[in-house]
Amino acid sequence: MPCVDTQLELVNQAFSRQSVRYDAYEENHEILKWMRGQVRTHVMGFLKKSDYILELNSGTGLDAVFFAQHGFKVHATDLSDGMISQLEQKVEMFKLQDRITVQQCSFTSLEEIPHRRYDYVFSNFGGLNCTANLSVVSSSVGRLLKPDGFITVVLMPPVCPWELALIFRGHFKIAVRRLHRNGALAHIEGVYFKTYYFSPGQILKAFGNGFKKIRLQGLASLSPPPRMENFPRRYPKLYKFLRTLDERVAHVPPFNSWSDHFILTMQYHP
Ligand SMILES: C[S@@+](CC[C@H](N)C(=O)[O-])C[C@H]1O[C@@H](n2cnc3c(N)ncnc32)[C@H](O)[C@@H]1O
Repeated sequence: MPCVDTQLELVNQAFSRQSVRYDAYEENHEILKWMRGQVRTHVMGFLKKSDYILELNSGTGLDAVFFAQHGFKVHATDLSDGMISQLEQKVEMFKLQDRITVQQCSFTSLEEIPHRRYDYVFSNFGGLNCTANLSVVSSSVGRLLKPDGFITVVLMPPVCPWELALIFRGHFKIAVRRLHRNGALAHIEGVYFKTYYFSPGQILKAFGNGFKKIRLQGLASLSPPPRMENFPRRYPKLYKFLRTLDERVAHVPPFNSWSDHFILTMQYHP
C-alpha cells in the first residue's frame, strides 16, 4: 500500500520493525499482560453473541485472535506492512480464516473498507495516539457502525501520574512529554514519529453528539506503567497491592483518566 503521508510512512516503518518482536515482548511483560486482560474484560462486557467487530490498528492480531476464539467475527485492519504480515501468519496458524479477515488500511482512510455496518469498533493500545486528526477517523466510524453499536478505544492521555513523578528523579523531558500541545516525538526501533495525547473529553468532542459515553476506565493510574517493566519483579507484593487498588478505583474520577492509558466505550446514536 503506498503511503503518501510522512507520518504514516514513519509509523509504518517503526511498527514494521517492531512487529517481529512484538508478541514475545508482551509475553514476558507482566504489566502489559494485565492491561490487555483489563481491556478484554471491559470489551467482553459489551459484546453480544455473534457480533461482528471492526478492529482498527490491530497490530499482530493478539486481540483479533482472542475475540475470534471466543466466537466473534473480526475484520482486522492496520497500517503497518510488518504487523499485517504477522497477523496473516497468525490467522493461518490458528486456522481462523472463517472468523478473521485482514485488510491493510490506515484508520485515516476508512473509506477503503468495503461498505457494511459492524456491531462493534475496537482500537487498542494507543494506535489512535498516532494521529492528530481524530475527526477523520470518527466521521468514518459513523458510516461503519450500526446504530446502537459500540466503539471502544484505548488511548494514552496527557496526565499519567507515574510519568509526571519522574520530575523528582530529574527526568524532566520524559515527565512532561505528554503535555505538549502539538504532540511529542515517539521513538520506536530507531524511527521517530509524532504521538498525540488525548483526554477522554477530547475524544468525546472529536466523535461528536452521535456518540454517547458509556464507560470510562483508567489503566495503570496508581500502579506503574509499562515503561517500568522491572517493577513487578523487584517489588512483587507492592505491585500486586497497587494493581488491586487500581482495579478498585479505575472507574472513579480522576483515576479513570489520569493513567497510563484509558479505555473509553461509546455507543452510537445517529
Ligand atoms: C502499540 S500498537 C497496538 C497494536 C494492537 N492494537 C495491540 O493492542 O497490540 C499500535 C498500532 O497502531 C498501528 N497504527 C498506527 N497508526 C495507524 C494508522 N494510521 N492506521 C492504522 N494503524 C495504525 C501501528 O501499525 C501499530 O500496529
